[in-house]
Amino acid sequence: MGFGLTTTAYMFKATCELGGEWVVEGVVPYGDLSLSPSSAVLNYGQGVFEGMKAFRTSEGELLVFRPDENAKRCEEGAGRMSMPAVPRDLFRDAVLRTVSANAEYVPPVGMGSLYLRPLLIGTGAILGLGPAPSYTFLVYCSPVASYFKGGQLTPIDLTVEETYHRAAPGGSGSTKCIGNYSPVLKVQLEAKKRGFSDVMYLDAKENKYIEEVSSCNFFCVKGKTISTPSLQGTILPGITRKSICELAAARGFTVEERNVSIDEVMNADECFCTGTAVVVAPVGSVEYKGKTVKFCDGKVGPTSQAMYDELTGIQQGKLPDERGWNVKVPKFPISG
Ligand SMILES: Cc1ncc(COP(=O)(O)O)c(C=O)c1O
Repeated sequence: MGFGLTTTAYMFKATCELGGEWVVEGVVPYGDLSLSPSSAVLNYGQGVFEGMKAFRTSEGELLVFRPDENAKRCEEGAGRMSMPAVPRDLFRDAVLRTVSANAEYVPPVGMGSLYLRPLLIGTGAILGLGPAPSYTFLVYCSPVASYFKGGQLTPIDLTVEETYHRAAPGGSGSTKCIGNYSPVLKVQLEAKKRGFSDVMYLDAKENKYIEEVSSCNFFCVKGKTISTPSLQGTILPGITRKSICELAAARGFTVEERNVSIDEVMNADECFCTGTAVVVAPVGSVEYKGKTVKFCDGKVGPTSQAMYDELTGIQQGKLPDERGWNVKVPKFPISG
């Protein structure tokens, strides 16, 4: 099992008229949606999504990692895309009910997780450019394992993209809006054809500072300092990124959120990427302007390993959850 879609029995659904209250349908059978050809999401890409995971512990409990952070990011994204926000308690309840209804799909401990995909879209019909008259909020899910080929902790090879940019100052780079993702496919597919796992983007102004990878944040390590690009509106404020910054600081690393130049990366001791889907992915090599730098002999670096072990240990209930990041999934009856 990699990161492919395996559909499950149930999804969660709620709807809202512009200016109205959310109406909860609750847990419903997973299935297709019926949409007007002139729905705002199809024509204007009015939509945001989230990615989060639920884990099974060795005691058989189900845990969701930091769902309130996703609720907050979804709320901010809704604001940026002129959509009614999903109230945070509705978001959390929807996620927990989706996991509970699909509990049998959560993989055994250590074998993967249940990836959750909350989706907020403008489903109402509209012709002229404007916010949709109505909205749908869904949570569906799929059991998953490793995002990159080769399994978790297999070092990935990245190439630095110099022509295309993922986002620009003042744009929507820090929003998890659906339109941010298809433009990266062309670049990513080209890189994959050349044998790379993914692409690193540079800033659109100077083409010099690291932004992020197609679907994850970037860190580099030099001695006891861990640096990651700061949040200036062009990269996604990753929840894994935020968690790793906290865990690394608690381990005595100096954590710097600032501009990280590509030259600095080429001289780093170690690099890794973070994200809900990729977890902590060690970087084996980076190619830039025809030059390739290998990190840690292409093996998993000690910091990547330590960060991976600590994060997954907390998420799977193997290590104490000192920061209260996990939310236990109650057993709900299957109904709205
Ligand atoms: C562009 C991008 N950057 C970074 C991330 C990592 O964010 P998170 O750690 O919240 O999953 C994601 C995934 O959601 C992403 O799509």
